Amino acid sequence: MRAADDGRGDIALAWFRAAVVYLLIAVALGVTMGARSDFAMRSVHSHLNLLGWVSLALMGLIYQQLPQLGARPLAKWQFRLHNCGLAGMAAGLAAKAHGLSSGDQLVGVGSIVLAVAVLIFALNILPARLPGD
Ligand code: HEM
Ligand code: HEM
Repeated sequence: MRAADDGRGDIALAWFRAAVVYLLIAVALGVTMGARSDFAMRSVHSHLNLLGWVSLALMGLIYQQLPQLGARPLAKWQFRLHNCGLAGMAAGLAAKAHGLSSGDQLVGVGSIVLAVAVLIFALNILPARLPGD
């Protein structure tokens, strides 16, 4: 770690990397949808962008501001569950967009896992007391 680095960048890096990967996939999907004038995958595109790119980048920024919360095991579990849930939800939405009814269960399970990750985020942030509070 460099002398000027207080370690906050390290905590957020995994969140930022994951966010950028979702952005790359979502933008490629957006361009493909536009080029083919086929918008069946719109909900995959919008959720990879909003739950992947936007939410993960925002959570990473929040944990960078509050590194004592970002370093907790709760945050690590939140990160894993968020990514697993989103991958499942996106795969399920994509299956549904292609007419596969089996996508329903995947969307259901993925959504619940994602919602648990969001709940963990709330449990990590809301009760926290910072020095000087
Ligand atoms: C080069 C980048 C992008 C391209 C080419 C693109 C393309 C598209 C296309 C073709 C649609 C479907 C429109 C329709 O159904 O009529 C769409 C929907 C959407 N996009 Fe993107 N998009 C891009 C980036 C983004 C980003 C960065 C975000 C969010 C951070 C975003 C959020 C959304 C949302 C929420 C919808 C659904 C809107 C609705 O249902 O009314 N997109 N995009
Ligand atoms: C666990 C979390 C979430 C679940 C399970 C979920 C589920 C859904 C579902 C089932 C739809 C309808 C899709 C369709 O018509 O095919 C939808 C639409 C939408 N959701 Fe979510 N959502 C979640 C979180 C979010 C978040 C956090 C945002 C924004 C930050 C968001 C933004 C949108 C938008 C803009 C649409 C309309 C565009 C589209 O058709 O995709 N959602 N969501």
